[in-house]
Amino acid sequence: MNIVVLAGGLSPERDVSLVSGGLIARALAGRGHKVFLLDVYEGVSLEGKTPAELFTDSPEYIFSITHEVPDLEEIRRRNGYRRELVGEGVIEVCRAADVVFIALHGDMGENGQIQALFDILRIKYTGTGYAGSLLAMDKDISKRLLRLGGVPTPDWVYYDTKADRPEKILETVGLPCVVKPLACGSSVGVSMIEEPGELEAAISLAAGYGRYLVVEKKITGREFSVGVLDGRVLPPIEIIPKSGFYDYVNKYQGLTEEICPANITEADFRKMADCSLRVFEILRLYGYARIDYILDADGGLWCLEANTLPGMTPYSLLPQEAAAAGIEYGELCEIIARQGLVRFDN
Ligand SMILES: Nc1ncnc2c1ncn2[C@@H]1O[C@H](COP(=O)(O)OP(=O)(O)O)[C@@H](O)[C@H]1O
Ligand SMILES: [Mg+2]
Repeated sequence: MNIVVLAGGLSPERDVSLVSGGLIARALAGRGHKVFLLDVYEGVSLEGKTPAELFTDSPEYIFSITHEVPDLEEIRRRNGYRRELVGEGVIEVCRAADVVFIALHGDMGENGQIQALFDILRIKYTGTGYAGSLLAMDKDISKRLLRLGGVPTPDWVYYDTKADRPEKILETVGLPCVVKPLACGSSVGVSMIEEPGELEAAISLAAGYGRYLVVEKKITGREFSVGVLDGRVLPPIEIIPKSGFYDYVNKYQGLTEEICPANITEADFRKMADCSLRVFEILRLYGYARIDYILDADGGLWCLEANTLPGMTPYSLLPQEAAAAGIEYGELCEIIARQGLVRFDN
């Protein structure tokens, strides 16, 4: 197959996406495919080449994630402050591929916009479609749907940073609570709040990623993440940060202990598996996804969110879970690519 791996973009999770994308491209090339890693915002100048000539069987992509969320202003500047979010050549090159492997994180890759564009153009792509992407990306909408569908999710309040006051939080969910942007990932802009005095700063941090927030009751317990692939639940992974919570730095600087398969009872496994399949159905997910939970001391399982585009380096959570189920990284990438290949067929 000729596969475009689509990554980068203007999301705060840009670096995470490029690392995943580079490794996915290498793994797919290792299985005999021709690949091209494409930054959706920066695009590619074809300079007299046909799109087909860009695909290679020996890609050399190397990226890393620093401690800091990337400087998006610098990327914008480098591109002449272009406002259009899809760069030069992107559509042409994606049209030339058999399938586009979406390795984006956040923003247009995760909120359904790129999926809707590809649907219209009949470009085949991997993972959840536009509607499911939107439902899962908006934490308020997804929590409403999960609650309606009987999946426990922590109490929360929808917060408008332009109109609401912190009292709204204190009078509803109370403390301790977790302040989050409505539609971000990688724990970007997420804060844990114990004291009322910490609220203002947490709200203004989260507001840097969008006007609306979700403020949730903080649940104390063990954190797990559960992958679903081709209708099958993968072995859950337990996440234990060495200090603090599972924030951006703990996620990507190796500061978290990850145990897979998690040491849980058969009953807890069943609960996680049933819940995950239900979440998959309620949010209209497709192909693969990863769902985050906290298990409290009373055995209550609380769903935090569903990720339609989970991290996809070999060390990321879902690939570790796949490995525990006997599916090595290259095979996992291939399975996901093939799921995209049958899109629009039925
Ligand atoms: N209600 C909560 N109670 C306790 N911890 C939480 C809660 N919500 C989020 N967290 C912590 O914050 C992290 C990020 O939250 P999450 O909702 O998964 O957002 P993101 O989309 O950024 O991954 C979680 O992995 C967990 O460690
Ligand atoms: Mg999460």
